[in-house]
Amino acid sequence: MLEKLINKFKSYELQARISQISRNIKQKNLTYLSCEKIINIEECLQDLKQNSVSGICLEAGIALGGSAIIIASLMPENANFHGYDVFEMIPPPSDQDDEKSKARYEIIKNGESKGINGKDIYYGYIENLYEQVVKNFESLGLKVDGKKISLHKGLFENTMYFTSTNSVAFAHIDCDWYEPVRLCLERIYPVLSIKGYLVLDDYNDYGECKKAVDEFLITHQNIVIIKSQGNLVLQRKSA
Ligand SMILES: C[S@@+](CC[C@H](N)C(=O)[O-])C[C@H]1O[C@@H](n2cnc3c(N)ncnc32)[C@H](O)[C@@H]1O
Repeated sequence: MLEKLINKFKSYELQARISQISRNIKQKNLTYLSCEKIINIEECLQDLKQNSVSGICLEAGIALGGSAIIIASLMPENANFHGYDVFEMIPPPSDQDDEKSKARYEIIKNGESKGINGKDIYYGYIENLYEQVVKNFESLGLKVDGKKISLHKGLFENTMYFTSTNSVAFAHIDCDWYEPVRLCLERIYPVLSIKGYLVLDDYNDYGECKKAVDEFLITHQNIVIIKSQGNLVLQRKSA
């Protein structure tokens, strides 16, 4: 009983700490992210503004667009947002992934997955998901114009390319399985700004996401862990 009350209080306390836009996104069931994870993202974006860190803000793994809309709404004024997703059913895990990931994918593939909070239709079953996401951005006052806000449809391996003139200030990597997480880290790292952030949504949820990140951290000692409760927050400290 007391534990229930304490948890309820904690949940109210976390809800009070997220921005109004994030509260709207949660109310509309547009994100899987907990308040704790959202707070970490909001703090990174605030820090980028305070330290004038330049570069684009991106998300790999959009689903209905919830966390993407939060990032695009709260990013530094001079930043652009880029979102990457297949905008259809999530691609399967690979042999590198664990049984939990494979079991989760089986449920999705068999049409048995529920929507966010057990409500609505699961995003992967929505026809024209890309158009739906564009509408979700619009419903929160943002236009996907291909300039300030761009969405790239397709597998990350075919859409996520950077040149040496690009820089990334913030990347939210939310794509569950080993291979896409590894690929995103590999592609983003060379252009990650100093003091820029990488946030790994599934580090504490899917074992093989953790494996991909831990392997990356061993070989990139200029990337340090800032937070590990909820999602994992990493920051680049030097060139
Ligand atoms: C957990 S959902 C993202 C949740 C979202 N960020 C939110 O606010 O709730 C993961 C997304 O990553 C996408 N995804 C996973 N692997 C991918 C890949 N290799 N290429 C493109 N999209 C991928 C899936 O289709 C799915 O939309």
